[in-house]
Amino acid sequence: MANQAENAQNPEAGKELTVEHIPVLAETLTKQVAVPRDGTLVDATIGQGGHSLLFGEKLGPGGTLIGFDVDENALARSSQRLKDLACRVLLIHSNFAGIREALAAHGIERVDFILADLGYSSDQLSDLKIGISFQEDMPLDMRIDRSLETSAADIVNGLDETSLADLIFQFGEDRASRRIARYVVRHRETEQITTTGQLAAIVCKALYRPGQKKRARIHPATRTFQALRIAVNHELDNLTQLLACAPDLLNSQGCLAVISFHSLEDRLVKYDFRGKASEGIYRVLTKKPLVATENEVQVNRRARSAKLRIAQRIE
Ligand SMILES: C[S@@+](CC[C@H](N)C(=O)[O-])C[C@H]1O[C@@H](n2cnc3c(N)ncnc32)[C@H](O)[C@@H]1O
Repeated sequence: MANQAENAQNPEAGKELTVEHIPVLAETLTKQVAVPRDGTLVDATIGQGGHSLLFGEKLGPGGTLIGFDVDENALARSSQRLKDLACRVLLIHSNFAGIREALAAHGIERVDFILADLGYSSDQLSDLKIGISFQEDMPLDMRIDRSLETSAADIVNGLDETSLADLIFQFGEDRASRRIARYVVRHRETEQITTTGQLAAIVCKALYRPGQKKRARIHPATRTFQALRIAVNHELDNLTQLLACAPDLLNSQGCLAVISFHSLEDRLVKYDFRGKASEGIYRVLTKKPLVATENEVQVNRRARSAKLRIAQRIE
């Protein structure tokens, strides 16, 4: 069947690829997961379509590649990138939390492979409209899905001090969460916090220790930004829903592969796979998470925190 990039909106946008995203652990993944030529594959986080292209090339005209993304630009870009594949390509603008219903709406009940490469692509991290990074000063927003109501600025300027501290502790695992929340609340009494640069500076001030010589391994604002991103985009709830419905969607011998970038996500995946293995639902193919080689990290810094876990559906 001819390649059909169905439902991808505004395909012209795909031509302006400004920042290329290098797919992480791509070689490792393709070595670990074999897909049938006429199989049905789901890329739950298609992004720029890097992983999808590698797997899509393994499919023949009888195969189907389905891509999900909450970001319409990502769908448009991947549509361009996948246009020469021999298999059918179906792109769906939806959160992967609703994967079961979205697939059912297209008459698809079972698939052979589900991949979730969590997090954000390089172009999203540098997108001023999304406002996720503290490396550059951007409007403080963080909504990947533009239909979400609450932005990071709403949380930072609206939440009471205790709830803000709890959020930074729970989703950022920052032990200085109370101190950071105190500085944020003190700052916003005089001025609203509207940019990522402003917030990063406030966190740095909160964590500054006079006379401290040793440089921190990560930027002081990393954990606070992670916490806000998780909260704004409901990252952990979405992943929980995907993990819950994956066994019902996978054919026997079908695989679920998840690449995560922070320990909260990885822990969810690890315990989900372990629990379902003990119930005889999965065989876990990765006793320990697979990580990038030094060579890969040198080429792609994003890969340094990536962890890949794979489970296989058994009857
Ligand atoms: C790391 S990128 C994927 C990159 C892709 N594997 C590639 O090789 O180009 C993650 C993508 O997932 C999307 N995304 C994040 N959370 C999502 C969710 N809950 N549902 C659907 N897409 C999501 C983001 O918009 C982003 O485009």
